[in-house]
Parts: sequence; structure tokens; C-alpha cells
Amino acid sequence: MTNDSSHITTDVSNGIFRIGIVRPEKRNALTLAMYDAMSSALKNAEEDPQVRVILLHGTDCCFTSGNDLADFADNPPPGEKSPVFRFLQTISQATKPLLAMVSGPAVGIGTTLLLHCDLVYADETARFQLPFVNLGLCPEAASSYLLPRRIGPQRAAEMLLLGEMIDAATALEYGLINQVFEPESLEKQVLGKATRLAAQPPESVRLTKSLLKEDQRLRVAEVMSKEGEMFLHQLAKPEAQEAISAFLQGRKADFSQFS
Ligand code: COA
Repeated sequence: MTNDSSHITTDVSNGIFRIGIVRPEKRNALTLAMYDAMSSALKNAEEDPQVRVILLHGTDCCFTSGNDLADFADNPPPGEKSPVFRFLQTISQATKPLLAMVSGPAVGIGTTLLLHCDLVYADETARFQLPFVNLGLCPEAASSYLLPRRIGPQRAAEMLLLGEMIDAATALEYGLINQVFEPESLEKQVLGKATRLAAQPPESVRLTKSLLKEDQRLRVAEVMSKEGEMFLHQLAKPEAQEAISAFLQGRKADFSQFS
């Protein structure tokens, strides 16, 4: 079965529910409608007893460039009920195993959502960036809590404060991803892993995932909520306005006027 709505494609076969982000002309930037479609897809995957594994992917050119900055400027998320926060809550609470397959840039939420996936595979073109500070914003998706625990506080500070891109080899060395493949073999390799996981006893898989997340469950929900509040607060401020206008106008942001 294959579905396609608002640049989000879904496909179910052999117990693997694929969710694709397909808007390559905008480097798979995520609009509010796309967040809604991804939340619905995740919910459907969770509820379908045939589904054993959920696989998130982008296109060859890009995993996702994160929030659509034009959509963000026009329709700032109104609060915790907004599509982006609903999506983050849904992905962080998924009970079925989540795999991600990354080619090209994974920016902002493109990297933070990986912290909620159980297995992350990338190819040599993959790049990872958390440019929240560059945009006058702050971390989201509980990344201020999860990232230092995953890759260490120094590396997390560097990724979050400088907002520079890291390549696939660095992400592997940091422990942000599981394995790097050549671009031509990525899909085959990832489908092999997904197929193996789908053949494992499903209740045992869900239980093991739940136990692996046990310690962090409550804290992730708290941090995500606090970050969300601060993110919205920052989004309305002049630093973020300058950063977003600069991106949309194709110029370098100038923060020299701010103290
Ligand atoms: N929001 C809205 N539009 C975006 C976008 C985003 N996050 N990322 C890319 N685009 C658009 C560009 O404006 C451009 O549109 P145009 O062709 O109409 O001018 C198109 O996608 C291609 O982008 P471009 O920058 O030329 O692609 P690239 O391959 O050289 O670089 C990225 C890819 C992802 C590295 C770069 O686009 C980028 O840094 N994007 C912004 C990422 C970001 O800050 N996300 C927000 C995180 S909260």
C-alpha cells in the first residue's frame, strides 16, 4: 500500500512502514502540513498490527533541511498543540522500533528527530547540523538533554553553539549514527536491517525498546516542553527575525546590533 499527502509518502510492505519526506526542491523543508502528515503516519503505523518497524527517510539529495523557514515566519507555531510539537511528542513516544535512513543534509529537526530513532543509518553524503543558535533560537526535541548524553557535553556544546555541519564519518565517531554505507548500497542495507528487525519477536522488541528508554522517558517530556516554550519565545524576538529574514533574503545574518 502506498499513500502520498503533502510531500509525505507512506508505504507498507512486509511489516515495514516507510515514511518519506519528499520535497526535494526545498531540500525537504518541513511545513506545518507535513508535520501533521508525519504525525498521522506515525499514529497509523503504531495502530496497524501488521507493522513491525517504522522507517523514516528523505530523498537522495537530502534527509530534511528542517523547519521550513518561510512557513515558520508566516505561521509561527502557536504552542504545544502546534503540528511540530505534536510530531515531536508522537515520535518520542513511539513504541515500535524506528529506523532512519539519511542521505545528504539533516538540519535542525532533521538531526534532533534522529535522537528519538532506535537505529540510524547514513550514506557518505550525509551531513548533520543543529543551527538553532545561528537562527537566534534554542534546542528542541529534548536535544539539550539527549545530545550531551549521546555524544558527550563538549561535542554537544560545539554542535549547538557553533551550529557547524558535521559529516557522516564524524557523526559515526560521535555515536550519533549506527553505520555509514556507500550511497548506492544504503537503501538495500537499511531494508536488510529493517527486514531482520521485522522478523524478530515483536513484543520482545517493543519491551526492549521501552526498557532502553525507561530512564529518560519523563525527563524527555519535561525538557521538550520547556524547550518548546523557550523556542517560541525566541522565535518572536529580533535575533530570530534577523536570522530568518537573512536566510530568506539570501544574505548573511548580522547580530552585531544585539547585546
Ligand atoms: N526552509 C525553507 N526553504 C528552504 C530551507 C528551509 N529550511 N532549506 C532550503 N530551502 C530552499 C532554499 O530557500 C532554496 O529555495 P529556492 O530554490 O526557491 O531559492 C532551495 O530550498 C534549495 O536550497 P539551497 O540552500 O540552494 O540548497 P543547498 O543544497 O545548497 O543547501 C541546505 C541545502 C539544507 C544546507 C541549505 O538549504 C540550508 O542550510 N537550509 C536552511 C536550513 C535551516 O536553517 N533549517 C532550519 C532549522 S530550525
